[in-house]
Amino acid sequence: MAIDYPAARASLVRILSKEIRDERALDAIGRVPRERFVPAPLRQHAYENRPLPIGNGQTISQPLMVALMIQALRLRGDEKLLEVGTGSGYQAALLSHLAREVVTVERVPELAESARRRLADLGYANVRVHVAGEALGWPSDAPYDAISVTAGAPAIPRSLVDQLAMNGRLVVPVGGRRVQQLVRASKSDRGVTVERLGECRFVPLIAADGGWPERADSHNGARATG
Ligand SMILES: C[S@@+](CC[C@H](N)C(=O)[O-])C[C@H]1O[C@@H](n2cnc3c(N)ncnc32)[C@H](O)[C@@H]1O
Repeated sequence: MAIDYPAARASLVRILSKEIRDERALDAIGRVPRERFVPAPLRQHAYENRPLPIGNGQTISQPLMVALMIQALRLRGDEKLLEVGTGSGYQAALLSHLAREVVTVERVPELAESARRRLADLGYANVRVHVAGEALGWPSDAPYDAISVTAGAPAIPRSLVDQLAMNGRLVVPVGGRRVQQLVRASKSDRGVTVERLGECRFVPLIAADGGWPERADSHNGARATG
């Protein structure tokens, strides 16, 4: 029997609305076809509240975790935003509804290319996808009003704080290779304020400056929420 994706999407939004207060984030989740961002054999699971493998040892994050991260960014709609970790492009698609401009970088060229194609096919015109370069993030387009990091870092990456605009927010999982705390760092003229938002499990951020070294077992897709 054919799956009724719009109904499944609406049901996911109802589930998330028990924990998420950001109405704009919920509205975006109700618009973006998550089934287009997961591998075809897994489409029937697209609206389950769990991460799914997307190839190359990486994951599309759990919808609740995506919603919590977006809520933590406190977006109004006029922001220039950086996402580190494009993956499938799903979160970038949500963010394109919620910010003025989205720059997203992905370390794995194959994932960046398929996300770029998918986002273009779906008409997300305010998203630019880049293959990550030497430096973490995308410094040439900085500063950003908001930065979302969808992979876990050992500590808040200094280079990403440097890419934040004044009054900007950086949301990043920080901790061990497998378990982290979701953290929001807010930049003001008085310095950087850090808040801990709860436990999470993301695949590792791989980077020489502010990430983990690459390792053969560098993914934890089976246990990740993100
Ligand atoms: C949990 S997945 C991202 C999920 C994605 N936001 C989505 O909606 O599908 C984390 C991604 O971060 C990428 N990544 C890890 N280190 C990175 C880095 N230094 N720069 C850019 N991307 C990185 C991984 O390759 C992986 O695709």
